[in-house]
Amino acid sequence: MKSFCGNYLKKLHIGNITAGSNVFMAPLAGYTCYPFRMMCRRLGAGLAFTEMVSANGLKYNDKATAKLLYTTDEESPKAVQLLGSVPSAFEYACKGEYTKDYDIVDINMGCPVPNIVKSGEGCALTQDLPLASRIIEACKRSGKTVTVKFRPGMNKSRIVVSEFARMCEDSGADMITVHGRTRNMMYDGEPVYEYIDAAKRAVNIPVIANGGIRSEEDAVRMMDRTGADGVMIARYGLEDPMIFARLTGRKTDATKLSLILDQAELAQSCFDETAAMEYVRKIASYFMKKIPGTKNYKQEMFRCGSMEELKKILVPIFGETEI
Ligand SMILES: Cc1cc2nc3c(=O)[nH]c(=O)nc-3n(C[C@H](O)[C@H](O)[C@H](O)COP(=O)(O)O)c2cc1C
Repeated sequence: MKSFCGNYLKKLHIGNITAGSNVFMAPLAGYTCYPFRMMCRRLGAGLAFTEMVSANGLKYNDKATAKLLYTTDEESPKAVQLLGSVPSAFEYACKGEYTKDYDIVDINMGCPVPNIVKSGEGCALTQDLPLASRIIEACKRSGKTVTVKFRPGMNKSRIVVSEFARMCEDSGADMITVHGRTRNMMYDGEPVYEYIDAAKRAVNIPVIANGGIRSEEDAVRMMDRTGADGVMIARYGLEDPMIFARLTGRKTDATKLSLILDQAELAQSCFDETAAMEYVRKIASYFMKKIPGTKNYKQEMFRCGSMEELKKILVPIFGETEI
């Protein structure tokens, strides 16, 4: 039986950046803030992306964006994801103050949410290759490493995966990530390996495979069937971030309890108390997914008024739990 670590694990060169492993944490709106990204990195993820940030929104000096883009020197290399449809807004965002610490800009060309697609952003860009190309070129003018995350097309009769992958490479992208579900599949169903395989055959830049990876077996199957250069984990990384340690062979004595308490501490170091508690509650709820009988604890978690109280509630929940 193949293992990811024994058969597929490698460092990955992306433009002029080297990622320490080819196992990445996906951008996840509402979750992949600095504490979460650092946890994944410490467990072996070679890169962890910020959630999508509006390229247009970076013109305005707002607190919410500063929170999304908070980072420190300990996070290296750093990868920010931008969403939008106007090339000049991307260029401005990539050259601006907010993204100055980030080495990699990932462009979201896969978001399937109706409002976003209606405004020509996210997955809508798979229907407009010339515009998508101008966006990539605009980002490249910043001198940063540029990557693109996209879906194979809007639905199975409008698959554009090969030509889209080639367009990304020709426009200067340094890596692509293919989420193997079409837009109308949203987040359900098995990813289609053939779509990712087609992208891999079309280009010479690294291709990362994303969708439905919940175990080492899934990751190995994904690599076998697609020939991809690495994998990107999304929802399962929230449920069990130790998947990064298992895939990369990283030795750790972390437990769910130690991870969640570290998250609380990191969140307090970069957010105010309310935001830190909101984040820890969200992460703890995901960690609890597989633990039966935690409903009362969840209610207590949402009632308590300070991080100290919250931590006291978390200890008995995770204290006995092996990962
Ligand atoms: C709650 C949630 C938020 C997401 N936010 C983003 C995002 O900000 N940018 C992005 O490119 N994809 C986003 N995605 C998509 C994931 O990155 C990933 O492509 C998708 O969940 C498929 O991978 P999985 O099957 O391993 O979860 C999001 C998905 C979910 C469920």
